[in-house]
Formats: sequence, C-alpha cells, structure tokens
Amino acid sequence: MTRLFISRDSTALSLGAEQVVKAIQQQTDSKIEIIRNGSRGLYWLEPLVEVETAQGRVAYGPVQAEDVASLMDAGLLEGKQHPLYLGNIEELPYFKNQNRLTFARVGITDPVNLDDYLSHDGYKGLKNALGLQPSDIVKHVTDSGLRGRGGAAFPTGIKWNTVLNAPADQKYIVCNADEGDSGTFSDRMIMEGDPFVLIEGMTIAGLAVGASQGYIYLRVEYPHAKIALNQAIEAAYKNGYLGENIQDSGKTFHLEVRSGAGAYVCGEETSLLESLEGKRGMVRFKPPLPAIVGLFGKPTIVNNVISLASIPVILDKGGEYYKNYGMGRSRGTLPLQLAGNIKHPGLFEAAFGLTLREILYTYGGGSASGRPIRAVQVGGPLGAYMPESQFDTPLDYEAFAAIGAVLGHGGIVVHDDTTNMADMARYAMEFCVEESCGKCTPCRIGSTRGVEVIDRIVGDVEKSKNTELLRDLCDTMLCGSLCAMGGMTPYPVLSSLNHFPEDFGLEASKA
Ligand SMILES: Cc1cc2nc3c(=O)[nH]c(=O)nc-3n(C[C@H](O)[C@H](O)[C@H](O)COP(=O)(O)O)c2cc1C
Ligand code: SF4
Repeated sequence: MTRLFISRDSTALSLGAEQVVKAIQQQTDSKIEIIRNGSRGLYWLEPLVEVETAQGRVAYGPVQAEDVASLMDAGLLEGKQHPLYLGNIEELPYFKNQNRLTFARVGITDPVNLDDYLSHDGYKGLKNALGLQPSDIVKHVTDSGLRGRGGAAFPTGIKWNTVLNAPADQKYIVCNADEGDSGTFSDRMIMEGDPFVLIEGMTIAGLAVGASQGYIYLRVEYPHAKIALNQAIEAAYKNGYLGENIQDSGKTFHLEVRSGAGAYVCGEETSLLESLEGKRGMVRFKPPLPAIVGLFGKPTIVNNVISLASIPVILDKGGEYYKNYGMGRSRGTLPLQLAGNIKHPGLFEAAFGLTLREILYTYGGGSASGRPIRAVQVGGPLGAYMPESQFDTPLDYEAFAAIGAVLGHGGIVVHDDTTNMADMARYAMEFCVEESCGKCTPCRIGSTRGVEVIDRIVGDVEKSKNTELLRDLCDTMLCGSLCAMGGMTPYPVLSSLNHFPEDFGLEASKA
C-alpha cells in the first residue's frame, strides 16, 4: 500500500488541498492510503503532496488538482521526477535547519490518530510526570527556562509555582488559544497539526499544580482547529489519557474547548477569563494575579498554546535538555511565523539567537515583490516596526527589548519599500480604537486622539506642535494604560516616527 500525505491544515485547505485529494482518489485504485497530516509549515509550497518511499518522504508542490494527471503519469507514487518534484522534504534547507522541539510531529503524523502520536514519542512526558511529585514537575519547567510564548515572556515555572502553592479546593488550567496577533498562526498550526501535544501539556500542568479541569479558549475563527482538538480530546478520553484515573494513576483531568467571539482584547488573560465566565471581555485590575484569583475566583494557570505544547518535550527529555537551546535568558525554541511581503511565508521553529536578517533572507528568501524590505513588524499589531539597520538583532527577548522592540508571539510581518510608515502608525492607533475594551482613559480616548493627531501631522497642520503632542500622548498611553493594548500601541507608532520620519513629512532632526 502506497502512503500519501496531504495536509488538513487551514492554509493548505484554502489553497486547494481538498481538490487535490479528490483528484488523486479519482485517478488511483484502492492501493493508496491518503493520510491527512498537519502542515510542515512551508506554506509557499502548499498544497504539498508527499509520498512515502524507501528514500524517505518525497514531496511535490505546490500541487493543484489539474496537476494530478501529469504527476501520476510521471510516477508520483514511486517518487519520480516532475517539474513540481522537490525531493526528500526533510532535506530542504528550510525544514532541515530548524530545531523542531515543539513542532516535532507536525507534518509527520496523522494529527488525530492517537496510535500515531504514541509511536512518535507521544505521552512520554506525561508518563514521566505521573511518576513525579508536583513540585518536581514544576522544577523541570523552571529548569527549562521556558518563558510564556503568548507575548509577555513571563517565566512559566514561576507562574506554575504560584498556582501550586495557592491553597484551594479547585484550580484551573486555561489555554490561551485566542491567537489574535497579525501574521501569527503557530497556535493554529499545532492545534490542527498535533492537538495531542497540547492536551498532553495541559494534563501535565494539571498534575503539576493540582488542577482537575482545563479549558482551551479558542478563537472562533479557527473551525478546523476546533474539529481536530475535539477529535483528539475524544480519543484521549476513550483511551484513559483524560478523565478520571488517568492511566491508572488515580489522577483526574478534564478538558473542554470553549469558543471566543472574535475580540482581540479577549487574548489578554484577564479579559479572557471574564469571557470564559460568560461575561463581556473586559480587562481586570491586577493584582490579584490570575494565578491566585483566576477563573471563577480560583487559582488558575493561563498559558499560551505554544507554552503548553512545549511542556511534553520538557518532561520527556528534562528541563536541562530544553535549556540547552537558545541564548541568554531566552531558552529553548521559538516557532517563528513569516508573513506579509515575503517569498517563503511559513513556520520556522528555531532556537533563540538566529538573527532577523538570517530568517528574512536565508530562509524567508527576501520580499515576495522582489523589492527591498523596508520594515518588519515583529510581535503582532502592538510590536515595533524595525528598519533594515536593526535586522542583525538576534532573536532574543532582551536584545529586542534593548532597542525598544518585542518578540511577542514570534510573528514577523514583512513590508517592502512601497509601504508608507505613517499609514502604518495611523493604522496602529485605529486598531486600538477598534479593539480597546474601554476600561481605561489613555487607551479608550488616547487612541482616538492619536488618529487625529497623526492626520494633522501628515496633513501639515502645525507639524512640530502636533509631533510633540503625539509623543506626549504616546507617553501617557505607555505609562497610564491598564493593559498592554493601550500600553503598547505606542510601539508601532513611535518606531514608525523615529525610523521613518520622512513618511510623516518630517526631517529626522524634527521628528
Ligand atoms: C491585548 C492583548 C492581547 C493578547 N492576546 C494574546 C493571545 O491571543 N494569545 C496569548 O497567548 N496571549 C495573548 N496575550 C498575552 C496574555 O495576556 C498572557 O500574557 C498570556 O496568555 C500568558 O501566557 P504565557 O505566559 O504562556 O505567554 C495578549 C495580551 C494583550 C494585552
Ligand atoms: S489599555 Fe485598553 S484594552 Fe487595556 S484595559 Fe485599558 S481600555 Fe481596556
């Protein structure tokens, strides 16, 4: 039986993967099996068709339904040559040069097949965790140096330790799967491509802090992820990996998926908890921290999908193993997401320390338009715009902070030299107007005033006075906002103003 692999990932589907599957089924007999895997993350090559051969998995891409006849004639099932032939997928530099710890199985296994998961090192981390004391599980996480991949980079071990030590009759594990940042898709890819790894990570978190209930707060725009997660959760329940008495350990962990309703601010952890409780998504005052008073007033771990999906490999191979990757205080790997005007968009999991230039040019292939890259926004809509002079910055939380930038969730959106950066600054303020929860004045009112002030600068109305006013306003938003929504909107605004004053009609000295 020949085995073919065609992704069920949303991006592959939107590019025609389903039609390719149908065309292959129509042109072949029953001697082939088509496995719907996750995506390898080489999005410019999707829909990708892989065939299992004695030399490994040979890939073809991007394949459209109308290519299938010629592929069959050329000998697709034997991995023979064709204009769309790419060779062994795992030998392509974009794939080969990654450090796939969290995404180890994505693109390789059938995402919702538990046996496939188990035969590719799945549930080894949980098995180890079941033999450890809760504090030892937390120690592994602390030793790994893992910091939250949702944006704030807070040390995961410290958060878990706080919840472990908070006395309560009930605790919760909440997975933040709201993934609202522009140009980001790593959470979606893992939920569609390896949902068991997230389920395993959440189960380990439950064992570590004594929480018996978990929720995945999933953005409503991810219907395929929801299907994959629910299929995997059902299989985990059936096979004793979720529910009462997990693997005869006497331990309990229940898990459910809950849908968000499309608000960016519901990705902010306290707003998320409000929404999960059935209320309007408004940011809560802190303290108390969610780790002490979280969901329904109980101690709660709120972690991003990638943070939780990184837990199984840490518990399988040990905190020290994970810590060996990376640089400085940025340990392990970060799944980078390349988007916007880039030749090779996709996911690239790398140890911290790679420079932005390497990722943009060596792997990303430069801009899709072929024009010079002018600016990249790293870390979502609240991230700074970085000019070419900063492209040699290593991907490291502290190196980015030192130049007023953020790594955030690892999204990299590329702009070529046709982008007007004053438009981007205005857009950042507009985005804040749209998405502000309205609880605090600097964000609610400041963002509206921000749009007006930028319009005045660009429209040559009292330019220098309004530039000073914009800086003053950004300062108020930075220092006076209750959460990072208003607090970080100045990042894209000020970086545009500082690095690209000409787009505001300003001389560098007057910006
Ligand atoms: C406006 C706003 C939106 C956010 N959106 C997300 C999101 O979509 N996903 C996420 O994991 N964290 C998001 N965060 C960060 C969370 O508040 C929180 O830091 C994170 O869920 C903690 O998990 P981690 O420590 O694993 O990163 C957002 C924060 C803000 C201020
Ligand atoms: S900064 Fe904006 S989103 Fe955050 S609490 Fe204030 S109004 Fe709400």
